Amino acid sequence: MYGLINRAIEELVRSCDPDVWEAVRTRARVDIDYFEGAAIYDDHITHRLLAAAAVELGVTEDALLEQFGRYWIVYTSAEGWGPILDGHGSSVAEVLRNLNDLHLRVRSTMPELRPPRFEVAEEQDGHIEVHYHSERDGLAAMVTGVLRGLAERFDEDWHVNHVGQLEAERCDVFVLTGPVSAPAASLASGQDASVAPS
Ligand code: HEM
Repeated sequence: MYGLINRAIEELVRSCDPDVWEAVRTRARVDIDYFEGAAIYDDHITHRLLAAAAVELGVTEDALLEQFGRYWIVYTSAEGWGPILDGHGSSVAEVLRNLNDLHLRVRSTMPELRPPRFEVAEEQDGHIEVHYHSERDGLAAMVTGVLRGLAERFDEDWHVNHVGQLEAERCDVFVLTGPVSAPAASLASGQDASVAPS
């Protein structure tokens, strides 16, 4: 994966405990001391860093991955990708529909990108089902985190659940339950929509 990912892991670890990064690198058997954001590194490095960071910070790997997913939204925005995120929607639902385009746009800068693929399988008021396809294993908890990070970015109150896998489609399924749009009448009048105007 691109070094941007490994740099984000390093920043997250340092923000939790500035002294622990060297121990993470040692445990992960990684002797690279600077990750170039635009260079490509073997996926094993990323997986080993994540596993080692979980041990050194005393959390489960899923908890670390989830935290990393939330941090990914903050980190990419801080690294200059905020306008790309903003350009792909102004709500969680909208960004979810545009996630593949978003990664395609990122690919114009990072041509070797091998991004995940997302599919909005079902969308109703207050309910979104998202399917996550990746050539990589073991990152589903990161997706839970990125989805929660998106909700935080847009200040929307979504509950994110990883509900399992679809064997046939080789994908992970996530369900978001949350904000139901207020009926237009109640927005306009500030009253209950069922009250008929006189
Ligand atoms: C502008 C913001 C973003 C940038 C710059 C970005 C960039 C990247 C990069 C560089 C990778 C590593 C893949 C590779 O190097 O082949 C990646 C992976 C990933 N991205 Fe994004 N991304 C962004 C936003 C998002 C969002 C909003 C999501 C929401 C779900 C997301 C989900 C993921 C996941 C889950 C992976 C892990 C790889 C995998 O599952 O196979 N990214 N992204």
